[in-house]
Amino acid sequence: MTEEKRVAAPAGRSAPTRGGGRALAPVRLGQVEAPRVERLRTGIGEFDRVLGGGVVPGSLVLIGGAPGIGKSTLTTAALANLAAAGRRVLYISGEESAAQVKLRAERLGPHALEVPIVADTDLEAVLATLETERPDVCVVDSVQVLYDPGLTGAPGSVSQVREVAGRLMRVAKSRGIATLLVGHVTKEGSLAGPRVLEHLVDCVLSFEGERERTYRTLRALKNRFGSTNEVGVFEMHEEGLVEVEDASARFVTEATRAPGSVVLCAMEGSRPLLVEVQALVAPGELVPPRRVANGVDRNRLALVLAVLARHGGFSLGSADVFVSVAGGVRVDEPGADLAIALALASAAKGISVGSDKPLAAFGELGLTGELRHVAHADRRVAEARKFGLERIVQPGERVGTLRAALAVLNSSIEGGAAAAGKAADAQAA
Ligand code: TYD
Ligand code: MG
Repeated sequence: MTEEKRVAAPAGRSAPTRGGGRALAPVRLGQVEAPRVERLRTGIGEFDRVLGGGVVPGSLVLIGGAPGIGKSTLTTAALANLAAAGRRVLYISGEESAAQVKLRAERLGPHALEVPIVADTDLEAVLATLETERPDVCVVDSVQVLYDPGLTGAPGSVSQVREVAGRLMRVAKSRGIATLLVGHVTKEGSLAGPRVLEHLVDCVLSFEGERERTYRTLRALKNRFGSTNEVGVFEMHEEGLVEVEDASARFVTEATRAPGSVVLCAMEGSRPLLVEVQALVAPGELVPPRRVANGVDRNRLALVLAVLARHGGFSLGSADVFVSVAGGVRVDEPGADLAIALALASAAKGISVGSDKPLAAFGELGLTGELRHVAHADRRVAEARKFGLERIVQPGERVGTLRAALAVLNSSIEGGAAAAGKAADAQAA
């Protein structure tokens, strides 16, 4: 709860209109003039794609993410490329001193050192700087540390963040300055800020990943100028964030083919992505048993477990169950169900479903044990084939139910591919 002062109510408030307003003339949408603006390319392919083809001049983009995920690194690298392409850029750092930002820039290469910086937290000073510098693109890192001395709240409080963003927006729109606002979100999303800004800005990007892992994903939660389905994959290296263009290839080569491993043909927006789903089923000591999901929704896992028990003949009862998407990637789509189910069944039986290549799967599980079609089946299959995965389990005429899909476990045994797996013979078998 934050206290806000109410402005004195104007006289004659009860009347429906106070008069003096000028009526506006509606225009048919088709006749509205909308000049085609050229987008500013950041030169970071994955970033541009998530933005919908680059930054729109004068737009406000909020990049949220947990501390240490790489927001400053990504935005600095973007400004470096824009500066190298001859754009006017400005980095406004409220969080770190100019010297600290320089240390980071040194790791990012020579272009990054060309980026002009101001380090201040006073909103008035920042706005005045924007007015005189008039950059094409600026980064505000972060929106939570700027403050307006005219307001009572502490920096980062709801009223401050809203005011800061609102005034930055007015300057950005009137001067055509594309503004990238960096905002922190904690795991609980508790820090005031990004949430109250979502309706205000044109584009909300979320930078996700586990700090301990190298893979990072950038996804759009809202985009007035593009699709919200796009996802960019990055890897954190010594010398900054590196785009992972062929993420599928990376994840497929890393797939283990051991019992409990299945490759999921996922769709990340318009792009198919192959990721390895791993499952582990172990004797549990706790009641209730542990159900741990990394990279997939916990509720999805619960649903898959229930369907497996009821319609697949795999009751994992008191066993501890772990499911994770390798590489720290998140998949949030129903098409992941079948791969999770197969990984679990394979882990429970201790039978590998892969042969010399991993098994690929996708499809949604219905509550009655049926397999449901998911969007872009052809593109998922094409992606799997591209990386040499010929064995693909997907919803179709031959495989209409979970039970039918689970037959791949048996065929793996008959094929002799799982001789080692059979010896391992898990307790759930
Ligand atoms: P940073 O961009 O400062 O994160 P944020 O602004 O989101 O808080 O960087 C995050 C981490 O990345 C930091 O702990 C150090 C690491 N890092 C690298 O591994 N390589 C690099 O080249 C850079 C610049 C940072
Ligand atoms: Mg930072």
